[in-house]
Amino acid sequence: MGAGKSTLGRALAARRGVAFVDLDEAVQAREGASPAQIFATAGEAAFRDAEARALEAALASREVVDGAVVALGGGAVLRARSRRALLEAGVLVTLHAEPAVLAARVEGDPGRPLLAGRDPAEALAELLDARADAYAECHGAVDTGRLDAAAALEAIERIADEDALVVPLGRRSYRVRFGAGVIADPTVVGELASLGDRLVMVTDANVEPLWAAPLAARLAAKVAARVVLPAGEAHKTIESVARVWDAALGAHVDRGAAVVAVGGGVVGDLAGFAASTLLRGLPWALVPTTLVAIADSSVGGKTGFDRPQGKNLVGTVHQPRLVVCDVATLATLDDAERIGGLAEVVKAAMLDGEDALGALEADADGLRRGDVEATLRAARRAVALKARIVAADEHERQGLRVALNLGHTVGHALEADSGYAMRHGEAVSLGLVAALRVAAGLGALQPGYDARVADLLRALGLPTDLDARLRPSTLAWVASDKKRASGAVRFVVPLGPGVWRLEPLTVDALAGLVAAANL
Ligand SMILES: NC(=O)c1ccc[n+]([C@@H]2O[C@H](COP(=O)([O-])OP(=O)(O)OC[C@H]3O[C@@H](n4cnc5c(N)ncnc54)[C@H](O)[C@@H]3O)[C@@H](O)[C@H]2O)c1
Repeated sequence: MGAGKSTLGRALAARRGVAFVDLDEAVQAREGASPAQIFATAGEAAFRDAEARALEAALASREVVDGAVVALGGGAVLRARSRRALLEAGVLVTLHAEPAVLAARVEGDPGRPLLAGRDPAEALAELLDARADAYAECHGAVDTGRLDAAAALEAIERIADEDALVVPLGRRSYRVRFGAGVIADPTVVGELASLGDRLVMVTDANVEPLWAAPLAARLAAKVAARVVLPAGEAHKTIESVARVWDAALGAHVDRGAAVVAVGGGVVGDLAGFAASTLLRGLPWALVPTTLVAIADSSVGGKTGFDRPQGKNLVGTVHQPRLVVCDVATLATLDDAERIGGLAEVVKAAMLDGEDALGALEADADGLRRGDVEATLRAARRAVALKARIVAADEHERQGLRVALNLGHTVGHALEADSGYAMRHGEAVSLGLVAALRVAAGLGALQPGYDARVADLLRALGLPTDLDARLRPSTLAWVASDKKRASGAVRFVVPLGPGVWRLEPLTVDALAGLVAAANL
């Protein structure tokens, strides 16, 4: 309260020529009583219920759907459900200021029930502390105590015009920026630079000359160390991690430093792991440069490396502070590598539902060709799905995040069995085919779903000839997959668009189901 939501909201709406909605006024119109009256007569919980109902109605209204500025009450974002709805419906900006500044602004206002009978600055400081996690889940924050109205409006508009998605994790929330060429945007470079007083940049030998070196030049003196790892899954090892550790420690970085990963999924996983362990944890940012990395590994914070026993067997969950998905980087990617990444996009759409799957089918030609807009649309949707899942089940305890393993149980086995010669995306495509076979074998598949997904995979240029790639030795690799629980694999069975279930399967049962059907 007192941060300027109504005043700046009204001015912003006028400037952009859109409608302005004040949620407190909407509550009053719906309930026939002011927020302060509802507070006084029915209590805060009843007011929050009324506020949530008014918000839901506002977000569904023509006025807001067509584009509007909505000023929310400070408590309107306390419910996770409301916050998620807001983050999906538009751009959510938190206005804030020091408690003393806010207190001076609201002094003498009788319509502030939360301050009644309290020292306003103290009460506001307590409220801000209690609400810090909720207020951090936004597209951006603007300090209206330090900026005058014109500068604050400009800052809000800048956030509104960015193409960004939020991974809502309380104070650890972060944004994923999207675009073509966004890696060279001065505000993005500035944000990367502001992550640490010194930066350790990690990349691989292929990405270094193409994308990492130009970015390092823009970050200039901030870069304390540059680590160029050998490319490829074969180098996703503890030795590569040690090279990052040693380069950072050799440059005498301290806890004010940050790690910036520029590259595919291998670089991201290694740099993230190094960041999570260096000096007991440094912040890090990720600039994914393959479609696999953009669509699947950019969000969620899983880091790690492979061991001879299998992939990703040692690792941590360490969320980045910022992710920059620049689809322009895909232009230098080998075509087969880029198309392989579409398998992760299909996986996400299968988990997401009919709309996502239909959108991929409609865009299949463009995606296969590498059309920038189609790729951006598909990547955004895949990342949004993953962000929702990670927000709900960050540590894979609710049985939700494990869904992202769809197609990966058999996919990882195929990759490992080929000595990592097979591309990750191709292995995932074949793994999706295997998962559909399992669903069919269990009698759980919606009619025609397997053929529909296989058609889409082929339309995107992905392989579906599982029998030709599966060797007798392949499924033995499943036994070392870390998603095993007491002898059985927790297999993600796709039933239809947006519908899946977990099925505990022994390796033998899995092998039987994969072999039986013929997709
Ligand atoms: N952390 C997660 O949540 C997560 C999710 C999915 C996958 N992964 C991991 O990601 C890895 C696979 O990622 P990947 O497919 O990006 O592999 P990768 O990092 O090995 O990249 C593939 C190849 O493309 C090159 N390359 C990368 N960007 C390029 C560019 N813009 N132009 C030209 N060449 C470029 C790389 O040097 C490499 O040779 C696996 O190790 C997998 O386990 C992690």
